[in-house]
Amino acid sequence: MNAQPRIALVTGAGRGIGRAIALRLARQSATVVVNDMAEAGASAAEAAAAISDTGGRASTALGDISKEEDVARVVDAVLAEYGRLDILVNNAGITRDQLLMRMSPDDWDRVLAVNLKGAFLCTRAALRPMVKQRSGRIVNIASVVGMIGNPGQANYAAAKGGLIALTKTCAKEVASRGITVNAIAPGFIDTEMTRRLPEQVKQEILKQVPLACFGAPEDVAGAVAFLASDDARYITGQVLRVDGGLVTA
Ligand code: NAI
Repeated sequence: MNAQPRIALVTGAGRGIGRAIALRLARQSATVVVNDMAEAGASAAEAAAAISDTGGRASTALGDISKEEDVARVVDAVLAEYGRLDILVNNAGITRDQLLMRMSPDDWDRVLAVNLKGAFLCTRAALRPMVKQRSGRIVNIASVVGMIGNPGQANYAAAKGGLIALTKTCAKEVASRGITVNAIAPGFIDTEMTRRLPEQVKQEILKQVPLACFGAPEDVAGAVAFLASDDARYITGQVLRVDGGLVTA
């Protein structure tokens, strides 16, 4: 890691994978801004406190990343407090699962708004300081579902597939400014999001995972730490699967 502490913004970091990413980046001496929805303010504060308790530096910036005005406020707060932004992790995401024929346009719109438009808005806002600095790291948390599809998740798979395309395009646009943009495609990770699935569905998924277990949020966090580090300086526009071998093609 750089000698100068790097400033990282992690969206949806009050719990689950985002929280693990925030803790991991802090452990690698980044100063971390924990974003989450205002309703999840208590868990965001708890995540920031967990970082401070272990000697790291963290603060919170609440806001709904699907809203342009919230994103502007969050990024402005980061710049007002720290004067720069080195790492953006677009992690916030939601599911509203339903078979396509029964999927409501509202469920389609909300999932696209958070998982795809939210990443666009945060990336656009973060690029302003990163382009000035002529350095930056953006890591998008996509999903293997965005590569292979999944019944019941047309909205989510479309959003994550779009996020992968956004990653590749953005990587090409900003490479000359010293900014890398990569995606991670997790498989099945044990969090609140996946705990809701029926036991039978989980067992069916498990049968397809060569490593024969679900991943932990820390498995994704380790991959983010790598892509955000100097070791990954020559890697951009890539999708790194963290899925226990589920997708190999
Ligand atoms: P989670 O549901 O446990 O946590 C998501 C967090 O994002 C919550 O704290 C929530 O309040 C926050 N959030 C939701 N909408 C937001 C918004 N509009 N603005 C700001 N924050 C918002 O989910 P989990 O499992 O930790 O997922 C994190 C990311 O990883 C998501 O993008 C998800 O799609 C992705 N992912 C998860 C997998 C899994 O198996 N758990 C697999 C593949 C991808």
